[in-house]
Amino acid sequence: MGIVIVGSLNYDLVTYTDRVPEEGETIKANLFETHVGGKGFNQAIGISRLMPKYEESCIKMIGSVGNDSFGKDLIEMLSQNRVESSNIKVVPDIKTGTATILVEKQSGQNRILIAAGANSYSEYSDAQLERIFTDYNDNDRTFVVLQNEIPGTLDIMHWLRENRPHSEVFYNPSPFLSLSQEQWRMVDVLVVNEIEALQVVESAFGVSYGNKLKTLISENFVEGYKTIALELQKKLINPCNLSSVVITLGEKGCVYISKLEETPGFVEAIRVPRVIDTTGAGDTFLGGIVSQLYQGIELKDAVKFSTIASSLSIQRNGAADSIPTYAEIVI
Ligand code: RIB
Ligand code: NA
Repeated sequence: MGIVIVGSLNYDLVTYTDRVPEEGETIKANLFETHVGGKGFNQAIGISRLMPKYEESCIKMIGSVGNDSFGKDLIEMLSQNRVESSNIKVVPDIKTGTATILVEKQSGQNRILIAAGANSYSEYSDAQLERIFTDYNDNDRTFVVLQNEIPGTLDIMHWLRENRPHSEVFYNPSPFLSLSQEQWRMVDVLVVNEIEALQVVESAFGVSYGNKLKTLISENFVEGYKTIALELQKKLINPCNLSSVVITLGEKGCVYISKLEETPGFVEAIRVPRVIDTTGAGDTFLGGIVSQLYQGIELKDAVKFSTIASSLSIQRNGAADSIPTYAEIVI
């Protein structure tokens, strides 16, 4: 039994500002902070914090950091959060990945620039994957969580399908990468934001079809995304045998659909008094989905739980640092 997250670890260099500067302009910011981050790392922390303490799951993170203080902080933070980190590579003479982030005061929205650094070294040979997944066999329930901030994601999926066919693959295609029908078959649960959902549609069904759906969204945002969910079910989930797709819609909420459902579900976002920093909200959400489904909870309730989790995270600074614990949600 266990959950394995393979992905990026970044050090986030965050500047909070009233507005982002124009080209060639210099302005004064309000505050600078460093935070631990990276999509893989945030999701690992999210899954662990959002799991009830009694759940004796083994959560393991795989990835790479540089031989610097940023890397040490990231590994330390994993162990403080009960995430097993013995397979994190420390790459000599390379810097830990960084994300330069600007957060605008008015909206709490961010702009992120990633320098991959050691994350570029997260490619694994078959022998290394065999070692990493040695404790996980097909009698066990294994969830594997993947994103696209490391180069080896598709190779890992491929290896899993061949060697651990019963593992359940959660895929968060961020940054977006287009997959073939054959590659979609390697995914079980797809979690995307509103932009990635359209990118999936365009890459799988063509740009003109994507434009048609964009028109629907501009007319009625949530209904438009429900249509996208249904189209994805018909043309991707069912033929490629995924189990579900979850589309997060930021301040609007979340649309989701499973293989077996006839209509898509929708959960409205929770209004918060003030949005401070949305960085990592998607990772918090995904952490909630994975931890809930791992406990055998239904997708509908997992989405509700994750909606609460991300509504708390956007009211705090930082990505992983802002993720709430299970106890903060279930009182
Ligand atoms: O999803 C948020 C994350 O994206 C940040 O923590 C940053 O490191 C980038 O990877
Ligand atoms: Na946050």
